[in-house]
Amino acid sequence: MNRPLAPNDTSSFWMPFTPNRDFASDPRLITAADGMYYTSHDGRQIMDATAGLWCVNAGHNAPRIVEAVQKQVATLDYAPHFNFGTPQAYELSSRLASMFPDGMDHVFFTNSGSESVDTALKIALHYHRMRGDAARTRLIGRERGYHGVGFGGISVGGIVKNRMHFGTMLTGVDHIRHTHDPERNAFSRGCPEHGAELADDLIRIAELHDPSTIAAVIVEPMAGSTGVLLPPKGYLQRLREICDRYGILLIFDEVITAYGRLGRASASEYFGVKPDIITTAKGLTNGVIPMGAVIVDSRIYNSAMGNADAPIELFHGYTYSAHPIAVAAALASLDTYREEDLFARADGLAKRWEDAVHGLKGLPHVKDLRNLGLVGAIELESRPGAPGARATEAMKEAWRQGLMIRVTGDTIAMSPPLIITEAEIETLFSKLAGILKGID
Ligand SMILES: Cc1ncc(COP(=O)(O)O)c(C=O)c1O
Repeated sequence: MNRPLAPNDTSSFWMPFTPNRDFASDPRLITAADGMYYTSHDGRQIMDATAGLWCVNAGHNAPRIVEAVQKQVATLDYAPHFNFGTPQAYELSSRLASMFPDGMDHVFFTNSGSESVDTALKIALHYHRMRGDAARTRLIGRERGYHGVGFGGISVGGIVKNRMHFGTMLTGVDHIRHTHDPERNAFSRGCPEHGAELADDLIRIAELHDPSTIAAVIVEPMAGSTGVLLPPKGYLQRLREICDRYGILLIFDEVITAYGRLGRASASEYFGVKPDIITTAKGLTNGVIPMGAVIVDSRIYNSAMGNADAPIELFHGYTYSAHPIAVAAALASLDTYREEDLFARADGLAKRWEDAVHGLKGLPHVKDLRNLGLVGAIELESRPGAPGARATEAMKEAWRQGLMIRVTGDTIAMSPPLIITEAEIETLFSKLAGILKGID
Protein backbone atom coordinates (compact mmCIF):
# COMPACT_ATOMS: atom_id res chain seq x y z
CA MET A 1 0.00 0.00 0.00
CA ASN A 2 2.81 2.35 0.82
CA ARG A 3 5.02 1.25 -2.02
CA PRO A 4 5.83 4.04 -4.45
CA LEU A 5 4.59 3.32 -7.97
CA ALA A 6 7.28 2.93 -10.59
CA PRO A 7 6.09 2.84 -14.21
CA ASN A 8 8.51 0.15 -15.40
CA ASP A 9 8.73 -1.90 -12.25
CA THR A 10 8.68 -5.59 -13.21
CA SER A 11 8.49 -6.89 -9.65
CA SER A 12 4.72 -7.01 -9.03
CA PHE A 13 3.71 -9.21 -11.93
CA TRP A 14 4.37 -12.83 -10.95
CA MET A 15 4.87 -14.17 -14.44
CA PRO A 16 3.47 -17.57 -15.49
CA PHE A 17 5.85 -20.41 -16.38
CA THR A 18 8.76 -17.94 -16.49
CA PRO A 19 12.02 -17.63 -14.60
CA ASN A 20 10.89 -14.31 -13.12
CA ARG A 21 14.25 -13.12 -11.78
CA ASP A 22 16.09 -13.91 -14.97
CA PHE A 23 13.41 -12.26 -17.08
CA ALA A 24 13.51 -9.07 -15.04
CA SER A 25 17.23 -8.73 -15.77
CA ASP A 26 16.61 -8.59 -19.52
CA PRO A 27 12.89 -8.36 -20.31
CA ARG A 28 11.46 -9.21 -23.71
CA LEU A 29 8.55 -6.81 -24.06
CA ILE A 30 5.92 -6.85 -26.79
CA THR A 31 3.85 -3.82 -27.61
CA ALA A 32 1.94 -4.64 -30.81
CA ALA A 33 1.31 -7.35 -33.37
CA ASP A 34 0.10 -7.78 -36.91
CA GLY A 35 -0.08 -10.82 -39.17
CA MET A 36 3.03 -12.93 -38.63
CA TYR A 37 4.92 -10.33 -36.59
CA TYR A 38 5.14 -8.81 -33.15
CA THR A 39 6.60 -5.39 -32.46
CA SER A 40 9.03 -5.29 -29.56
CA HIS A 41 9.24 -2.33 -27.17
CA ASP A 42 12.37 -1.19 -28.99
CA GLY A 43 10.50 -1.11 -32.28
CA ARG A 44 11.77 -4.31 -33.90
CA GLN A 45 9.66 -6.74 -35.93
CA ILE A 46 9.70 -10.22 -34.38
CA MET A 47 8.46 -13.15 -36.43
CA ASP A 48 5.94 -15.15 -34.42
CA ALA A 49 7.07 -18.72 -35.06
CA THR A 50 4.83 -20.07 -32.29
CA ALA A 51 1.44 -18.47 -33.00
CA GLY A 52 1.72 -16.93 -29.54
CA LEU A 53 1.22 -20.04 -27.43
CA TRP A 54 -0.15 -22.22 -30.25
CA CYS A 55 -3.26 -20.09 -30.51
CA VAL A 56 -3.02 -17.33 -33.13
CA ASN A 57 -3.71 -19.61 -36.08
CA ALA A 58 -5.06 -16.89 -38.40
CA GLY A 59 -2.26 -14.47 -37.53
CA HIS A 60 -2.48 -11.35 -35.40
CA ASN A 61 -5.08 -8.62 -35.84
CA ALA A 62 -7.17 -10.70 -38.23
CA PRO A 63 -9.60 -7.97 -39.35
CA ARG A 64 -12.84 -9.96 -39.09
CA ILE A 65 -12.09 -11.00 -35.52
CA VAL A 66 -11.06 -7.51 -34.42
CA GLU A 67 -14.22 -6.06 -35.89
CA ALA A 68 -16.48 -8.75 -34.41
CA VAL A 69 -15.06 -8.18 -30.92
CA GLN A 70 -15.35 -4.41 -31.19
CA LYS A 71 -18.96 -4.69 -32.33
CA GLN A 72 -19.91 -7.25 -29.70
CA VAL A 73 -18.49 -5.31 -26.77
CA ALA A 74 -20.60 -2.33 -27.77
CA THR A 75 -23.77 -4.44 -28.24
CA LEU A 76 -23.89 -7.04 -25.48
CA ASP A 77 -20.89 -6.91 -23.20
CA TYR A 78 -21.90 -9.75 -20.90
CA ALA A 79 -24.80 -12.05 -20.23
CA PRO A 80 -24.95 -15.06 -17.93
CA HIS A 81 -25.62 -18.53 -19.31
CA PHE A 82 -26.91 -20.03 -16.08
CA ASN A 83 -30.64 -20.13 -16.86
CA PHE A 84 -30.34 -17.56 -19.67
CA GLY A 85 -29.08 -17.82 -23.24
CA THR A 86 -27.68 -15.81 -26.13
CA PRO A 87 -28.41 -16.71 -29.76
CA GLN A 88 -24.77 -16.64 -30.82
CA ALA A 89 -23.78 -19.25 -28.25
CA TYR A 90 -26.22 -21.70 -29.87
CA GLU A 91 -24.89 -20.83 -33.30
CA LEU A 92 -21.31 -21.41 -32.16
CA SER A 93 -22.11 -24.75 -30.57
CA SER A 94 -23.83 -26.09 -33.67
CA ARG A 95 -20.99 -24.89 -35.85
CA LEU A 96 -18.47 -26.62 -33.62
CA ALA A 97 -20.56 -29.80 -33.57
CA SER A 98 -20.43 -29.84 -37.36
CA MET A 99 -16.61 -29.46 -37.37
CA PHE A 100 -15.80 -32.39 -35.10
CA PRO A 101 -16.29 -36.13 -35.82
CA ASP A 102 -19.82 -37.37 -36.44
CA GLY A 103 -21.84 -37.90 -33.32
CA MET A 104 -19.82 -35.40 -31.27
CA ASP A 105 -22.73 -33.02 -31.22
CA HIS A 106 -22.67 -31.25 -27.86
CA VAL A 107 -20.44 -28.48 -26.61
CA PHE A 108 -19.66 -27.21 -23.11
CA PHE A 109 -17.94 -23.81 -22.98
CA THR A 110 -15.04 -22.93 -20.69
CA ASN A 111 -12.42 -20.18 -20.60
CA SER A 112 -9.16 -22.05 -21.13
CA GLY A 113 -7.56 -25.36 -21.94
CA SER A 114 -7.12 -26.15 -18.24
CA GLU A 115 -10.81 -25.62 -17.61
CA SER A 116 -11.69 -27.72 -20.65
CA VAL A 117 -9.63 -30.57 -19.25
CA ASP A 118 -11.18 -30.39 -15.79
CA THR A 119 -14.62 -30.18 -17.41
CA ALA A 120 -13.95 -33.24 -19.56
CA LEU A 121 -12.74 -35.26 -16.58
CA LYS A 122 -15.84 -34.29 -14.60
CA ILE A 123 -18.15 -35.13 -17.50
CA ALA A 124 -16.50 -38.56 -17.77
CA LEU A 125 -17.03 -39.30 -14.07
CA HIS A 126 -20.57 -37.95 -14.23
CA TYR A 127 -21.38 -40.11 -17.27
CA HIS A 128 -20.50 -43.36 -15.57
CA ARG A 129 -22.36 -42.39 -12.44
CA MET A 130 -25.47 -41.45 -14.41
CA ARG A 131 -25.37 -44.89 -16.02
CA GLY A 132 -25.25 -46.56 -12.65
CA ASP A 133 -21.59 -47.56 -13.13
CA ALA A 134 -20.40 -45.53 -10.16
CA ALA A 135 -17.34 -47.71 -9.52
CA ARG A 136 -15.67 -46.18 -12.56
CA THR A 137 -13.81 -43.38 -10.84
CA ARG A 138 -10.21 -43.80 -11.91
CA LEU A 139 -8.68 -41.39 -14.39
CA ILE A 140 -5.68 -42.38 -16.48
CA GLY A 141 -3.22 -39.96 -18.04
CA ARG A 142 0.14 -40.50 -19.70
CA GLU A 143 3.69 -39.75 -18.64
CA ARG A 144 4.92 -36.46 -20.11
CA GLY A 145 1.33 -35.40 -20.84
CA TYR A 146 0.35 -31.76 -20.42
CA HIS A 147 -3.26 -31.01 -19.60
CA GLY A 148 -3.03 -27.53 -18.16
CA VAL A 149 -2.62 -26.48 -14.57
CA GLY A 150 -5.90 -27.19 -12.75
CA PHE A 151 -5.75 -29.91 -10.11
CA GLY A 152 -7.46 -32.33 -12.49
CA GLY A 153 -5.07 -31.46 -15.29
CA ILE A 154 -1.90 -31.80 -13.24
CA SER A 155 -3.16 -35.05 -11.73
CA VAL A 156 -3.56 -36.72 -15.12
CA GLY A 157 -0.63 -34.75 -16.52
CA GLY A 158 2.79 -36.35 -16.57
CA ILE A 159 5.33 -33.53 -16.44
CA VAL A 160 7.12 -33.97 -13.15
CA LYS A 161 7.88 -30.31 -12.42
CA ASN A 162 4.23 -29.40 -12.91
CA ARG A 163 3.19 -31.94 -10.28
CA MET A 164 5.91 -32.28 -7.69
CA HIS A 165 5.26 -29.12 -5.67
CA PHE A 166 1.50 -29.45 -5.38
CA GLY A 167 0.74 -32.15 -2.89
CA THR A 168 -1.18 -35.32 -3.59
CA MET A 169 -3.54 -33.95 -6.25
CA LEU A 170 -6.49 -36.18 -7.27
CA THR A 171 -6.52 -39.70 -5.91
CA GLY A 172 -7.23 -42.72 -8.09
CA VAL A 173 -5.11 -41.53 -11.00
CA ASP A 174 -2.52 -43.56 -12.87
CA HIS A 175 -0.40 -43.03 -15.99
CA ILE A 176 0.46 -45.08 -19.03
CA ARG A 177 3.96 -44.85 -20.48
CA HIS A 178 4.91 -42.03 -22.82
CA THR A 179 5.73 -42.78 -26.44
CA HIS A 180 9.06 -41.00 -26.83
CA ASP A 181 11.61 -43.49 -28.15
CA PRO A 182 14.55 -41.62 -29.70
CA GLU A 183 16.62 -44.77 -30.02
CA ARG A 184 14.22 -46.25 -32.54
CA ASN A 185 12.55 -43.13 -33.88
CA ALA A 186 15.00 -40.19 -33.98
CA PHE A 187 14.70 -37.97 -37.07
CA SER A 188 11.39 -39.52 -38.16
CA ARG A 189 9.50 -37.51 -40.71
CA GLY A 190 5.97 -37.20 -39.36
CA CYS A 191 4.68 -39.93 -37.07
CA PRO A 192 7.30 -42.48 -36.03
CA GLU A 193 7.16 -46.09 -37.20
CA HIS A 194 7.84 -47.72 -33.87
CA GLY A 195 5.79 -47.80 -30.71
CA ALA A 196 2.13 -48.62 -31.49
CA GLU A 197 2.46 -51.40 -28.91
CA LEU A 198 2.99 -48.79 -26.18
CA ALA A 199 -0.79 -48.35 -26.22
CA ASP A 200 -0.96 -51.81 -24.65
CA ASP A 201 0.31 -50.22 -21.46
CA LEU A 202 -3.33 -49.31 -20.92
CA ILE A 203 -4.07 -53.04 -20.70
CA ARG A 204 -1.48 -53.37 -17.95
CA ILE A 205 -2.98 -50.47 -16.02
CA ALA A 206 -6.53 -51.70 -16.59
CA GLU A 207 -5.69 -55.17 -15.35
CA LEU A 208 -3.79 -53.79 -12.39
CA HIS A 209 -6.73 -51.73 -11.16
CA ASP A 210 -9.59 -53.81 -12.62
CA PRO A 211 -10.95 -52.24 -15.81
CA SER A 212 -14.38 -51.73 -14.26
CA THR A 213 -12.91 -49.05 -11.99
CA ILE A 214 -11.57 -46.91 -14.83
CA ALA A 215 -13.64 -43.96 -16.06
CA ALA A 216 -11.45 -42.43 -18.74
CA VAL A 217 -8.04 -42.12 -20.28
CA ILE A 218 -6.84 -38.73 -21.49
CA VAL A 219 -4.01 -38.15 -23.96
CA GLU A 220 -2.90 -35.43 -26.31
CA PRO A 221 -3.09 -37.01 -29.78
CA MET A 222 0.06 -35.01 -30.47
CA ALA A 223 1.79 -33.86 -27.30
CA GLY A 224 3.07 -30.29 -27.54
CA SER A 225 4.14 -28.80 -24.25
CA THR A 226 6.35 -31.71 -23.30
CA GLY A 227 8.49 -31.03 -26.37
CA VAL A 228 6.38 -32.18 -29.35
CA LEU A 229 5.96 -35.95 -29.13
CA LEU A 230 4.15 -37.54 -32.03
CA PRO A 231 2.01 -40.65 -31.76
CA PRO A 232 3.64 -43.73 -33.29
CA LYS A 233 1.76 -44.99 -36.33
CA GLY A 234 -1.25 -47.03 -35.22
CA TYR A 235 -0.91 -46.03 -31.55
CA LEU A 236 -4.07 -43.95 -31.28
CA GLN A 237 -6.13 -46.58 -33.11
CA ARG A 238 -4.89 -49.20 -30.66
CA LEU A 239 -5.71 -46.99 -27.69
CA ARG A 240 -9.24 -46.61 -29.06
CA GLU A 241 -9.63 -50.38 -29.40
CA ILE A 242 -8.47 -51.00 -25.83
CA CYS A 243 -10.83 -48.33 -24.47
CA ASP A 244 -13.71 -49.99 -26.32
CA ARG A 245 -12.76 -53.39 -25.01
CA TYR A 246 -12.88 -52.17 -21.41
CA GLY A 247 -15.68 -49.57 -21.55
CA ILE A 248 -13.22 -46.74 -20.84
CA LEU A 249 -13.94 -43.28 -22.25
CA LEU A 250 -11.21 -41.86 -24.48
CA ILE A 251 -10.53 -38.14 -24.12
CA PHE A 252 -8.35 -36.40 -26.68
CA ASP A 253 -6.87 -33.18 -25.37
CA GLU A 254 -6.82 -31.12 -28.55
CA VAL A 255 -6.10 -27.75 -26.96
CA ILE A 256 -3.25 -27.21 -29.42
CA THR A 257 -4.24 -29.50 -32.28
CA ALA A 258 -7.82 -28.41 -32.93
CA TYR A 259 -8.56 -25.64 -35.42
CA GLY A 260 -6.07 -26.35 -38.14
CA ARG A 261 -2.66 -27.06 -36.64
CA LEU A 262 -2.41 -30.39 -38.47
CA GLY A 263 -4.20 -29.17 -41.59
CA ARG A 264 -7.58 -30.44 -40.39
CA ALA A 265 -10.24 -29.17 -38.00
CA SER A 266 -8.96 -31.64 -35.42
CA ALA A 267 -6.29 -34.26 -34.81
CA SER A 268 -9.14 -36.73 -34.41
CA GLU A 269 -10.00 -36.08 -38.05
CA TYR A 270 -6.34 -36.12 -39.09
CA PHE A 271 -5.70 -39.51 -37.50
CA GLY A 272 -9.16 -40.91 -38.25
CA VAL A 273 -9.72 -41.83 -34.61
CA LYS A 274 -12.87 -40.73 -32.86
CA PRO A 275 -12.57 -40.17 -29.11
CA ASP A 276 -15.57 -39.74 -26.79
CA ILE A 277 -14.66 -36.25 -25.59
CA ILE A 278 -12.42 -33.59 -27.15
CA THR A 279 -11.02 -30.66 -25.20
CA THR A 280 -10.20 -27.48 -27.11
CA ALA A 281 -9.30 -23.81 -26.47
CA LYS A 282 -6.60 -21.54 -27.97
CA GLY A 283 -7.31 -21.48 -31.73
CA LEU A 284 -11.04 -21.45 -31.02
CA THR A 285 -10.85 -17.66 -30.74
CA ASN A 286 -7.49 -17.24 -32.45
CA GLY A 287 -6.20 -16.41 -28.98
CA VAL A 288 -8.01 -13.07 -29.03
CA ILE A 289 -10.36 -13.69 -26.10
CA PRO A 290 -9.88 -16.56 -23.63
CA MET A 291 -12.25 -19.43 -24.40
CA GLY A 292 -12.37 -23.20 -24.39
CA ALA A 293 -14.88 -25.74 -25.63
CA VAL A 294 -15.40 -29.38 -24.72
CA ILE A 295 -16.95 -31.41 -27.51
CA VAL A 296 -18.91 -34.38 -26.27
CA ASP A 297 -20.33 -37.48 -27.91
CA SER A 298 -24.14 -37.56 -28.01
CA ARG A 299 -24.36 -40.76 -26.02
CA ILE A 300 -22.67 -39.03 -23.08
CA TYR A 301 -24.86 -35.96 -23.34
CA ASN A 302 -28.03 -38.03 -23.76
CA SER A 303 -27.14 -40.11 -20.77
CA ALA A 304 -26.85 -36.97 -18.66
CA MET A 305 -30.16 -35.67 -19.98
CA GLY A 306 -31.96 -38.98 -19.51
CA ASN A 307 -30.63 -40.04 -16.16
CA ALA A 308 -30.17 -36.86 -14.19
CA ASP A 309 -31.52 -36.96 -10.68
CA ALA A 310 -32.25 -33.21 -10.59
CA PRO A 311 -33.57 -30.63 -13.04
CA ILE A 312 -30.02 -29.38 -13.50
CA GLU A 313 -28.34 -32.25 -15.34
CA LEU A 314 -24.73 -31.23 -14.69
CA PHE A 315 -23.69 -29.20 -11.69
CA HIS A 316 -20.85 -27.48 -13.46
CA GLY A 317 -20.24 -24.20 -15.29
CA TYR A 318 -18.31 -20.94 -15.27
CA THR A 319 -19.47 -17.35 -14.89
CA TYR A 320 -17.91 -16.78 -18.30
CA SER A 321 -19.09 -19.97 -20.06
CA ALA A 322 -20.05 -18.76 -23.54
CA HIS A 323 -19.06 -15.17 -22.74
CA PRO A 324 -20.63 -13.12 -25.56
CA ILE A 325 -17.35 -11.46 -26.57
CA ALA A 326 -15.54 -14.79 -26.66
CA VAL A 327 -18.38 -16.26 -28.70
CA ALA A 328 -18.13 -13.36 -31.16
CA ALA A 329 -14.37 -13.89 -31.42
CA ALA A 330 -14.87 -17.62 -31.97
CA LEU A 331 -17.50 -17.19 -34.68
CA ALA A 332 -15.29 -14.69 -36.48
CA SER A 333 -12.28 -17.01 -36.11
CA LEU A 334 -14.19 -19.92 -37.65
CA ASP A 335 -15.31 -17.58 -40.47
CA THR A 336 -11.71 -16.50 -41.03
CA TYR A 337 -10.42 -20.07 -41.06
CA ARG A 338 -13.06 -21.00 -43.63
CA GLU A 339 -12.82 -17.92 -45.85
CA GLU A 340 -9.06 -18.04 -46.01
CA ASP A 341 -9.12 -21.83 -46.26
CA LEU A 342 -6.43 -21.90 -43.61
CA PHE A 343 -6.65 -25.57 -42.67
CA ALA A 344 -6.05 -26.58 -46.30
CA ARG A 345 -3.30 -23.98 -46.47
CA ALA A 346 -1.55 -25.56 -43.48
CA ASP A 347 -1.95 -28.96 -45.09
CA GLY A 348 -0.46 -27.66 -48.33
CA LEU A 349 2.57 -26.22 -46.53
CA ALA A 350 3.20 -29.27 -44.36
CA LYS A 351 5.63 -30.97 -46.77
CA ARG A 352 7.63 -27.78 -47.31
CA TRP A 353 7.70 -27.31 -43.54
CA GLU A 354 8.84 -30.90 -42.97
CA ASP A 355 11.73 -30.45 -45.41
CA ALA A 356 12.73 -27.23 -43.68
CA VAL A 357 12.68 -28.84 -40.22
CA HIS A 358 14.76 -31.80 -41.37
CA GLY A 359 17.14 -29.50 -43.21
CA LEU A 360 18.61 -28.74 -39.78
CA LYS A 361 19.99 -32.27 -39.45
CA GLY A 362 23.71 -32.29 -38.78
CA LEU A 363 23.84 -28.86 -37.14
CA PRO A 364 25.64 -28.63 -33.79
CA HIS A 365 23.87 -30.25 -30.81
CA VAL A 366 20.84 -31.36 -32.85
CA LYS A 367 19.78 -34.69 -31.37
CA ASP A 368 16.37 -35.14 -32.99
CA LEU A 369 14.00 -33.34 -35.35
CA ARG A 370 10.25 -33.90 -35.33
CA ASN A 371 7.40 -32.52 -37.40
CA LEU A 372 3.72 -32.89 -38.14
CA GLY A 373 1.35 -30.48 -39.88
CA LEU A 374 2.71 -27.03 -39.07
CA VAL A 375 4.51 -28.16 -35.94
CA GLY A 376 8.25 -28.59 -35.70
CA ALA A 377 10.64 -29.51 -32.91
CA ILE A 378 14.40 -29.43 -32.57
CA GLU A 379 15.72 -31.43 -29.67
CA LEU A 380 19.20 -30.39 -28.58
CA GLU A 381 21.77 -32.29 -26.55
CA SER A 382 21.65 -30.90 -23.03
CA ARG A 383 24.68 -29.29 -21.51
CA PRO A 384 26.08 -31.51 -18.77
CA GLY A 385 24.41 -30.56 -15.49
CA ALA A 386 22.35 -27.79 -17.08
CA PRO A 387 19.25 -29.22 -18.73
CA GLY A 388 17.34 -26.60 -20.70
CA ALA A 389 20.18 -24.06 -20.69
CA ARG A 390 21.17 -24.52 -24.33
CA ALA A 391 17.64 -24.18 -25.73
CA THR A 392 16.93 -21.20 -23.48
CA GLU A 393 20.02 -19.48 -24.83
CA ALA A 394 18.78 -20.20 -28.35
CA MET A 395 15.40 -18.68 -27.49
CA LYS A 396 17.05 -15.50 -26.17
CA GLU A 397 19.30 -15.22 -29.19
CA ALA A 398 16.33 -15.79 -31.50
CA TRP A 399 14.53 -12.89 -29.84
CA ARG A 400 17.58 -10.68 -30.42
CA GLN A 401 17.52 -11.75 -34.07
CA GLY A 402 13.79 -11.07 -34.48
CA LEU A 403 12.28 -14.51 -33.92
CA MET A 404 9.91 -15.84 -31.27
CA ILE A 405 10.39 -19.55 -30.60
CA ARG A 406 9.31 -21.65 -27.65
CA VAL A 407 11.39 -23.96 -25.53
CA THR A 408 10.62 -26.84 -23.18
CA GLY A 409 13.67 -28.42 -21.65
CA ASP A 410 16.16 -28.59 -24.48
CA THR A 411 13.53 -28.83 -27.19
CA ILE A 412 12.72 -25.85 -29.37
CA ALA A 413 9.12 -25.95 -30.60
CA MET A 414 7.65 -24.08 -33.53
CA SER A 415 4.00 -23.75 -34.50
CA PRO A 416 3.59 -20.65 -36.67
CA PRO A 417 0.33 -18.99 -37.64
CA LEU A 418 -1.17 -20.91 -40.56
CA ILE A 419 -0.73 -17.80 -42.72
CA ILE A 420 3.05 -18.24 -42.87
CA THR A 421 4.43 -18.03 -46.41
CA GLU A 422 7.06 -20.24 -48.02
CA ALA A 423 9.47 -17.30 -48.01
CA GLU A 424 8.89 -16.84 -44.27
CA ILE A 425 9.54 -20.54 -43.69
CA GLU A 426 12.91 -20.04 -45.48
CA THR A 427 13.75 -17.02 -43.34
CA LEU A 428 12.73 -18.75 -40.14
CA PHE A 429 14.88 -21.81 -40.74
CA SER A 430 17.92 -20.00 -42.07
CA LYS A 431 17.86 -17.79 -38.96
CA LEU A 432 17.47 -20.84 -36.76
CA ALA A 433 20.37 -22.57 -38.49
CA GLY A 434 22.56 -19.54 -37.79
CA ILE A 435 21.49 -19.46 -34.17
CA LEU A 436 22.22 -23.17 -33.69
CA LYS A 437 25.67 -22.72 -35.23
CA GLY A 438 26.36 -19.84 -32.86
CA ILE A 439 25.58 -21.40 -29.49
CA ASP A 440 28.01 -23.66 -27.69
C1 LIG B 1 -2.74 -30.10 -24.54
C2 LIG B 1 -3.00 -28.94 -23.63
N1 LIG B 1 -3.97 -29.02 -22.73
C3 LIG B 1 -4.26 -27.99 -21.90
C4 LIG B 1 -3.54 -26.82 -21.98
C5 LIG B 1 -3.86 -25.72 -21.02
O1 LIG B 1 -4.43 -24.65 -21.66
P1 LIG B 1 -4.54 -23.24 -20.91
O2 LIG B 1 -3.15 -22.73 -20.75
O3 LIG B 1 -5.40 -22.43 -21.83
O4 LIG B 1 -5.21 -23.49 -19.60
C6 LIG B 1 -2.53 -26.69 -22.92
C7 LIG B 1 -1.75 -25.46 -23.03
O5 LIG B 1 -0.75 -25.38 -23.71
C8 LIG B 1 -2.23 -27.79 -23.77
O6 LIG B 1 -1.23 -27.73 -24.67
